[in-house]
Amino acid sequence: MGFDTLIVNGTVVTATDTYKSDVAIAAGKVIAVGSNLPRENASKVLDADGKYVFPGGIDVHTHLDMPFGGTTSADDFETGTRAAAFGGTTTLIDFAIQYKGQSLRTAFETWMQKATPKAVSDFAFHCIITDLPDARLEEMNELVREGVTSFKLFMAYPGVFMLDDASIFKALRTTSKNGALVCMHAENGGAIDVMVQQALAEGKKAPKYHALTRPTTAEAEATSRAIALAEMAGAPLYIVHLSCNDALEKVREARDRGLPVYAETCPQYLYLSLENFDVPGFEGAKYVFTPPLREKWHQEKLWNGLKQDHLQVVSTDHCPFCFKEQKELGRDDFTKIPNGGPGIEHRMSLVFFGGVGQGRFSVNRFVELVATTPAKLFGLYPRKGTIAVGSDADLVIFDPNREHTISAKTHHMRVDYSMFEGIRVKGMPDVVLSRGRVLVEDNKFVGRAGAGNFLKRAGYTGV
Ligand code: URP
Ligand code: ZN
Ligand code: ZN
Repeated sequence: MGFDTLIVNGTVVTATDTYKSDVAIAAGKVIAVGSNLPRENASKVLDADGKYVFPGGIDVHTHLDMPFGGTTSADDFETGTRAAAFGGTTTLIDFAIQYKGQSLRTAFETWMQKATPKAVSDFAFHCIITDLPDARLEEMNELVREGVTSFKLFMAYPGVFMLDDASIFKALRTTSKNGALVCMHAENGGAIDVMVQQALAEGKKAPKYHALTRPTTAEAEATSRAIALAEMAGAPLYIVHLSCNDALEKVREARDRGLPVYAETCPQYLYLSLENFDVPGFEGAKYVFTPPLREKWHQEKLWNGLKQDHLQVVSTDHCPFCFKEQKELGRDDFTKIPNGGPGIEHRMSLVFFGGVGQGRFSVNRFVELVATTPAKLFGLYPRKGTIAVGSDADLVIFDPNREHTISAKTHHMRVDYSMFEGIRVKGMPDVVLSRGRVLVEDNKFVGRAGAGNFLKRAGYTGV
C-alpha cells in the first residue's frame, strides 16, 4: 500500500482519545492510523515527534469579502483561508447574505463566486436571511438540498438584518422539518437602537459607546426569546458569538431542560474586555464588534462554560476591517464604525493556550470545541472534525511548546492591527494539511488559491 504522506511519531488527539501513532494519507484521505507504519511506502514523511496531531480546525463563523457598514471586510477568501491555515484552521463556514428582495439562491450563488476561485481550503456556507415573506420559506428547503443546512437570523440591526419574531418563528418551524439549524444573533435590536439614539443625542460618540449601548441584558433577553421561539417550533437552535454570563445562563437553563440548544463563544470574549476601550483617541474602534466586549469577570464564566459544555464551540466571527480608512469611517460617530474584528488566524492557539495550557480543560476537549463539535453540529462529521480511517486528511501537527507573541507585524490576515496584539501564547501549528496537501510548513504558505472545495453539508442530527 503506497502513502502520499506519512506522519510519524506524533501524538494523535481526537475528542475522545490521545495516543502515540503514525497517520498515513493517500488521495486526500486518512488511510491508516497505527504504530510503525512502513516509511518506505511513503512519498513524504513528516516527523511529529514531541508534537500533537490534531484534526484540522473548523471555524463555523467567518465573514470574508462581506459588504458591511459601507465597506467590505478586508480579507477575501484567499487571504482569509490562508491566514486560517497558518493558525491550523482548514475548514470555514462563512455566511452568504440574502439582501432584501433577493432569493436565497442568489445569496448562495454570489458567495460561491467569491469563494470558489480563491479559497485555499474547504469551505461551506450558512445563509443569512434578512427578508422572509411566506413565499420564500420553500427556498430554505431548496438550499438545504444544496448542502446549505444552516441559516443565520438576526434579532438586532433593525432596518438592515433584523427579522421580526413572526418571521423568526416561521423560519424555525421550517428548519424543524427540513433538518437545518438556525444560528441566531441574539440581541434586542429595538431596545439597543433606542439607547444608541439617546447616546448620540447626548453627544456620546466615541467607540466605547458602541459597547455601552448594547448591555448584557439585551443579549440575555434575546437569547431567552430565541430559545422560547425554537422550543415552540420544535427546532434546534445555535446561538452565535455569545459574549456574557447573562446569556450563558439562558443557554445553560435550556440545556438543563433537555432542549437542543447550543452556543459558541469567540476568543475576543475570552481574552478581551471593556478595559480595551481605555486607549487613547479613536483606538477603541479596533474593538468595535457585536455583541460588544463585556466586563472582565465574564471571561472566566465563559471559560467555565466551555469546560462544562454549557458552550459547545469556539468560532471567531472573523470580520476584519482595517483601522485606517475602514474603522476610521466612524471617527466622529461610533454608529458608523464597521462592526467586526480580525481573529481567524489565532483561534486554535488562543483556545489551546487559555484552555489546555492554563489547565482549564483537556486537550481532547480542546479538539472537541474547535473541530469535532463544529463538524457534528454542521453536518460535516466524520468527513471533517476527527482523525479516522476514511476522514479527509485535514491535519495539524501542533507544537505544544512553541511560544509566539501575536502581532499585526507577523500575522497573515489582511488587516493593519491585531485585537490580540502582544498576547504571548504557547502552542502553535507547525505543519497544516488540507485533504493531504501541505498548506503551511516552516512558517511558509505552500498551498494554492482555488484548491478549496465547497462542502455540501448534511442536515442537523445532534451531537
Ligand atoms: O460585529 C460583528 N460581529 N460583525 C459581524 C456580523 C455579525 O453580527 O456577526
Ligand atoms: Zn452576528
Ligand atoms: Zn458574525
